[in-house]
Amino acid sequence: MYNFETSTVGASARAGSRRASRSVRRTGVPIIRVTRPGRLAYVPAMSAACVRAFHAGDVPAAGALLAARHRTHRLGCPLLSPRYEDEPAATAEVAAAFALPGASGAAAVQDGGIVGFLLGAPKASPVWGPNVWIEAAGQAAAEPELVRDMYGLAAAQWVQESRTAHYVLVPASDEGLLRAWYRLGFGQQQAHAVRPLPGPTPAAPPKVAVRRARRSDLPALARLEVEVPRQHSLAPTFSASPVPSYEECLAGWEEDFDDPAYTTFVAEFEGAVIGSSIGCALELSASHLPLTRPDHAGFLAFAAVFPHARGLGAGRALGEAVSAWTAQAGYQCVATDWRVTNLLSSRTWPRLGFTESFLRLHRLVGH
Ligand SMILES: CC(C)(COP(=O)(O)OP(=O)(O)OC[C@H]1O[C@@H](n2cnc3c(N)ncnc32)[C@H](O)[C@@H]1OP(=O)(O)O)[C@@H](O)C(=O)NCCC(=O)NCCS
Repeated sequence: MYNFETSTVGASARAGSRRASRSVRRTGVPIIRVTRPGRLAYVPAMSAACVRAFHAGDVPAAGALLAARHRTHRLGCPLLSPRYEDEPAATAEVAAAFALPGASGAAAVQDGGIVGFLLGAPKASPVWGPNVWIEAAGQAAAEPELVRDMYGLAAAQWVQESRTAHYVLVPASDEGLLRAWYRLGFGQQQAHAVRPLPGPTPAAPPKVAVRRARRSDLPALARLEVEVPRQHSLAPTFSASPVPSYEECLAGWEEDFDDPAYTTFVAEFEGAVIGSSIGCALELSASHLPLTRPDHAGFLAFAAVFPHARGLGAGRALGEAVSAWTAQAGYQCVATDWRVTNLLSSRTWPRLGFTESFLRLHRLVGH
């Protein structure tokens, strides 16, 4: 268990670590003193904040910080919902994050006020390993550097609980915050992205024909469904998600094909189906929690092209078909996401006008 206390330069000099106090004297920067039984460590910081465990009473102040973060975020990503610029809505998201089973975290306090918070909770799926997730509503700080101190406290408990796989969603335009996380050993895993609806100018005619899927396409749709997890299982993504069999996918399609919540397209080339895509409401995606969602957004939920037919323009045509469908269905923009390490999707979707809104970072502790 760590103890944190603030300290001035003079006090740190008295505390015993000569090397640390020398460097602090040189820079004159106040420090946060981080102690644990039997060991002293000194962390230069931007302010004399004190870090402690997050309490229920911190929720309103954390909501105010989150609303401020979201206001700044929307300057670069205006498609995100304006709703969370308001403190009550942002506070409700923080309260929901803290109410999750197993939630815990840290708060940074300065002059009696909360200047930063960090909240994580585990997910049940074994795909993520022994995990903790800091979702989009799980952090905000007056200074990015504070997340390093808060993670230092919160992660001590998570690792003590053997939760060593850590995930965090960070606004993609917040270079300072991203850099703070990179300097905690995190790297990019997933991108969430949005694009406006297609403009009035018609897109160039697709190089391959795209149409709505029919029941007779089910075998091709089942084979294409295997392509995304198969791609993700390969280098350099190495996802742990299981690759389903063709038979499992076919059974799923037989059951779900008529579900009106999903709209499926296929691309044809020389008379054969070579790719497919699916559009739906963004709310149907479990990985896009409220703060990451633009209002009234459609979702490019799936797209795949058989390996032999890639590079012909089918991916673009299938993505544009979903965008055109979202416009017709009355949505105001389109969202999607991709594995940053998927060399195919991470290059395709930005070409179609998707820009990153949030980045999910990942760290596996232990090696
Ligand atoms: C992603 C995928 C659907 C793209 O399909 P595709 O038919 O190869 O894509 P297109 O030929 O239409 O290319 C679309 C655009 O992306 C670009 N692009 C596609 N792959 C690229 C690559 N590997 N490197 C650089 N650019 C690439 C193309 O140049 C094109 O841009 P342009 O139209 O402005 O010239 C396909 O690669 C695929 O099925 N991948 C495996 C499954 C997968 O990853 N699905 C997405 C999950 S999020």
